[in-house]
Amino acid sequence: MKFFVDTADTAEIKSLAESGLLDGVTTNPSLIAKSGRKILEVIAEICAIVEGPVSAEVAATDYETMMREAAVLRKIAHNVCIKLPLTPDGLRACKALTNEGVQTNVTLCFSAAQALIAAKAGATFISPFVGRLDDIGQDGMELISEIVDIYGNYPALTTQVLVASVRNPIHVITAAKLGADVATLPPSVLRMLYHHPLTDKGLAAFLKDWQGTGQSIL
Ligand code: G3P
Repeated sequence: MKFFVDTADTAEIKSLAESGLLDGVTTNPSLIAKSGRKILEVIAEICAIVEGPVSAEVAATDYETMMREAAVLRKIAHNVCIKLPLTPDGLRACKALTNEGVQTNVTLCFSAAQALIAAKAGATFISPFVGRLDDIGQDGMELISEIVDIYGNYPALTTQVLVASVRNPIHVITAAKLGADVATLPPSVLRMLYHHPLTDKGLAAFLKDWQGTGQSIL
């Protein structure tokens, strides 16, 4: 399973890239706004840190302007993945960009039907938002299960399931059990994956016993 980080904070991305666990980055207009920086500058900086796909989202809602924005974004670096909303114009742009060999991430997916048409449009990634479904009392992970099953019925569909709007490690583990291809995690959730109280307790005990030996490895 690939891990992407869902942020436009380049200091966080640098630090997480050093962990060796990072396979890509996703951003969206809200995350760019939070960074307080210009989109072209931030995406260029992220692409220089991370080798894998870096999702940069168009801001237009009509096909022609989406394509013009995509042309600007894809020039930034070879690993820019164009993120498009799940609308008729977004999927039309997805199809056109896919035909030109550009990586695409179709975002704001909330149903299996939407995921199916995104795959038919040739999306490289489909981004179902699990946390936002949970927020309205629906089961976000159930949607992941449905999409994984549907895509599995059609081996010719190459779209990867990218679990988005992840809120906690249980989302990550459930996504992995279901066989999702990617999860994009807020930095805080990625860091949570390391932790277990028994690891901390065990390490403290080992260090105490080691000190008692008076030895040094170096
Ligand atoms: O980048 C898309 C997605 O991960 C947003 O998550 O937490 O704003 O629902 P959230």
